[in-house]
Amino acid sequence: MTVQNKTVLNAGTIPHVAVDFMNNTHFEEIELVEKLGDVITEYEQNSAPTLDETKRLSDFLEQWLTHTQAHFSRENELMLETQFPMYSVHSGEHERVLKNMKEIIQTWQSNHDIEMLADYVFSSWPQWFDDHVNSMDMITAHFAVMHGFDPHATIEK
Ligand SMILES: [Fe+2]
Repeated sequence: MTVQNKTVLNAGTIPHVAVDFMNNTHFEEIELVEKLGDVITEYEQNSAPTLDETKRLSDFLEQWLTHTQAHFSRENELMLETQFPMYSVHSGEHERVLKNMKEIIQTWQSNHDIEMLADYVFSSWPQWFDDHVNSMDMITAHFAVMHGFDPHATIEK
């Protein structure tokens, strides 16, 4: 895969939503994926990766999964707290994406197919994330603030 094929997301280009804690979580997630991208690029260029190098990548993926789970569940809680009417649509989308991410990680763990993983991390996931923040997250945050949620409230991780 060439560098030109990579979709680059960064904290400067991702749309901002009306709730601070959601933006902070999104920035953290992007930072994590950027680091993961570096590890994947290194791995792709490595003609004979060691077990330790493979494990390092697997550990990174687990860390990403954990972050995503926490990220989605905090947004789900916000929707419940503010009685967001499209809760089932937005939380259903979280569930779908999480299931897909788990499947990708499991597939990687069983076949160590770096191209499949690179395609997900550099292409499918950034496209989804950008669309999702621009649509469902944007609407959810706006609704929450309109219904009394403090946009600057901090939330326990
Ligand atoms: Fe979301």
